[in-house]
Amino acid sequence: MNTLNPDALLAQLNWRYATKKFDATKKIPAGTWAALEHALLLTPSSFGLQPWKFIVITDAAVRQKLVHVSWNQTQPTDCSHHTVFAVRKAIAEKDVDRFLDSIIATRGGAKESLKGYGDMMTGFAGKAAQEGWLREWAIRQVYIALGNFMTSAAVLGVDTCPMEGIEPANYDKILGLDGSEFETVVACAAGYRAADDKHAQLAKVRFPASEVIQHI
Ligand SMILES: Cc1cc2nc3c(=O)[nH]c(=O)nc-3n(C[C@H](O)[C@H](O)[C@H](O)COP(=O)(O)O)c2cc1C
Repeated sequence: MNTLNPDALLAQLNWRYATKKFDATKKIPAGTWAALEHALLLTPSSFGLQPWKFIVITDAAVRQKLVHVSWNQTQPTDCSHHTVFAVRKAIAEKDVDRFLDSIIATRGGAKESLKGYGDMMTGFAGKAAQEGWLREWAIRQVYIALGNFMTSAAVLGVDTCPMEGIEPANYDKILGLDGSEFETVVACAAGYRAADDKHAQLAKVRFPASEVIQHI
């Protein structure tokens, strides 16, 4: 196993900050970006259902349009890769079935042996939809992907800015998600900080561990 030591991990987590100003001339190398996309795929989710889609936008014209619906924040145009984290709006029996097929395709075995697991997931999703919290549950999974992405990027020395300061409905229009199975939740710009981004020098503001972490 190839693990980071604790000091190296904390150095990268302290190095990470929500980048306000990216250096538009610096692009993430293909191999590094491929690893970050792979990190997205490896994100864990409840039941393993992966109720998400990640839309990576490198097209300059699309990114320019996104600035106008991102509270005029310029990270979408200045970063190297701008990623939209979208949630699957509904989880139907066919989605659970496709997941079961992928388990069998990956691990082998008989689909019948997964019937109980499938029924449980369909029952869960049905109940969540009926009680009105399926979307909220699915969005929670999407945020795990966001956290995983930002930490993975930091470990690789790539800067990020998570962005909730966006208009999700307008993102959906621009990205052609309207009428699809997905909708925008949050975005994340990735690339390299501009040398004059003053935010990089600011001390981290966090409540003390004694308040936030309780040992019992
Ligand atoms: C879900 C989420 C959404 C955020 N949205 C924005 C945003 O739209 N624009 C921005 O500049 N920073 C945004 N931030 C950055 C936070 O303000 C920042 O993470 C927080 O102040 C802590 O600072 P640090 O990340 O630099 O340590 C967001 C952070 C998170 C986690």
